[in-house]
Amino acid sequence: MSIPQFTTQGVYVNVSKAVFPVAGMGTRFLPATKANPKEMLPIVDKPLIQYAVEEAIAAGITEMIFVTSSAKRAIEDHFDKNYELEAELEKKGKSELLELVRSVLPAGVSCAYVRQPEALGLGHAVLCAKPLIKDEPFAVILADDLIDGYGGSAMAQMVEMYTAHQCSLLGVEEVAAEDTDKYGIVKAVPMDERLSRVERIVEKPKPAEAPSTLAVVGRYILTPRIFELLETTGRGAGGEIQLTDAIAALLREEPVLGYRFSGRRYDCGSKLGYLEATVEFALKHPELSDEFRSYLKRNFC
Ligand code: UTP
Repeated sequence: MSIPQFTTQGVYVNVSKAVFPVAGMGTRFLPATKANPKEMLPIVDKPLIQYAVEEAIAAGITEMIFVTSSAKRAIEDHFDKNYELEAELEKKGKSELLELVRSVLPAGVSCAYVRQPEALGLGHAVLCAKPLIKDEPFAVILADDLIDGYGGSAMAQMVEMYTAHQCSLLGVEEVAAEDTDKYGIVKAVPMDERLSRVERIVEKPKPAEAPSTLAVVGRYILTPRIFELLETTGRGAGGEIQLTDAIAALLREEPVLGYRFSGRRYDCGSKLGYLEATVEFALKHPELSDEFRSYLKRNFC
């Protein structure tokens, strides 16, 4: 059960909406992403975006908002009904597969799509969702950061923290010192084992300039004030409108907490992270694990 939350207007609402920015170019995966969205790359038998939506559903979120571009139609199709496929599976009596296809979007969960006309950065992509979020706290999930949550999905853990603390939250984890220039990096004061109060945030600092090695990964719960701040955020690192810069402005006005989720993150925007996720999910897959484990032992041990 979710507990009501305050908006900027002081009205009670729940965290019921998640934004999935999926309008990036996915250049690190070219040519695979020339015609197919990066978020549709499968980990074993499910696309990354479906893992992300399932994580949101496990957190009690019911409205999924995708920020897309013209190259991302496959994502809309994936969450839409496929009448021909369903009729064919029904005709052939393949009831298990039919159920699998139908369960991609469970009853009670809705999807909405908004276009980002130009890939102007993650901050700009989040701002594109403003008309659909209006004045509510909301989640942001980057599907290429796949998180295998321990004891509940990463977003479910964050919604629980939001419920307790009622302020913006960033999913964070320690990264190697040489990798700080791939992430937003925070300076934060620990509150307990998992929570810290963010004092500073910098986008992709060089290792020598990084305030710490605590990196923001693709999970956020943000108060709606972020939209007003994004509207006045100019282009930052890489010439893009950075969500990090708007969060830097937000934490001058409101408390922002870092949360070290319990779970393993795979950076599926990189080829190595994608391969690691594929191997580890295959080793846990109910149909594949035994055979795949023996294959690995036979060939690589
Ligand atoms: P990335 O930095 O991973 O960029 O974006 P990318 O374009 O997806 O991938 P590469 O680096 O070229 O390989 C982080 C997230 O922000 C979204 C992406 O879809 C991804 O989920 N994004 C980024 C947008 O939606 N719009 C943008 O303008 C930029």
